[in-house]
Amino acid sequence: MSSPAKEIRPDRGGPFYFVANWKMNKTAAEARDYLKILEKSLRALPDRWEAVLAPPFTALHAVSDALKRGPLKIGLAGQNLYFEARGAYTGEISPLMLVEAGCRYVLIGHSERRIHFGEKGPLLRKKVRAALEAGLIPILCVGEELKEREGGKTAAVIESQLKETLEGDALLQKEFTLLIAYEPVWAIGTGKTPDPSEAEAVHRQIRAFFHAFEGALSILYGGSVTDKNIGAFMKEPNVDGVLAGGASLAPETFSRMIEIGVEAKQADR
Ligand code: PGA
Repeated sequence: MSSPAKEIRPDRGGPFYFVANWKMNKTAAEARDYLKILEKSLRALPDRWEAVLAPPFTALHAVSDALKRGPLKIGLAGQNLYFEARGAYTGEISPLMLVEAGCRYVLIGHSERRIHFGEKGPLLRKKVRAALEAGLIPILCVGEELKEREGGKTAAVIESQLKETLEGDALLQKEFTLLIAYEPVWAIGTGKTPDPSEAEAVHRQIRAFFHAFEGALSILYGGSVTDKNIGAFMKEPNVDGVLAGGASLAPETFSRMIEIGVEAKQADR
């Protein structure tokens, strides 16, 4: 599936996204308080721009109910899922349960799942399939570790993570929306980031990998994104949005990031 980068953001590129990954933070009550502040600070997004919250499972229903009642047009994502529909899988959550809780998206293969819970290619392939079959939009996370970067292996690691999860999958011949989040492991929660031009080079590589994909593809950058650096990342032509962890936990910061991100992308066009 891979080929040299030919196009920058072809027409079939998907929308732009701001995804807030809360990780294992916020109770349902805290999530409701967050939304009250976000309602006051977030202005309506232009067409083809989406903000998405990924709360812990226990807060999904609370967030979904509050969103239904309030003015915010925000998407909801699960942080993980299991590939089976039901059964004896203690502690897991099924795609249908996420859909019922109001999710439209699901994170798959976040580096914290890969590192702490041993998730790898074949399992992630099943998860992507299960998500798509349930009508969820996968946000597949890929990224290299520091020693891989220092060894000049970033491109090879990204290629192999994409291949082991997606290559040869007949699903990719169909039209659907797919999000890939490039998250260098060494940049997550550390305050360090690659130069935006280095992230752009990886995003171009990812775009080229999907040259035969018939659906809509959006490629997000993640790893220590804040209101201070989001503008520089969003100015890159192949950065279609961000996946933010720590900085998204404060609603005022998340809405400021959205404002700066939209402005940076639009100034660039
Ligand atoms: P961070 O996390 O923004 O706190 O670095 C990003 C992520 O893990 O998705």
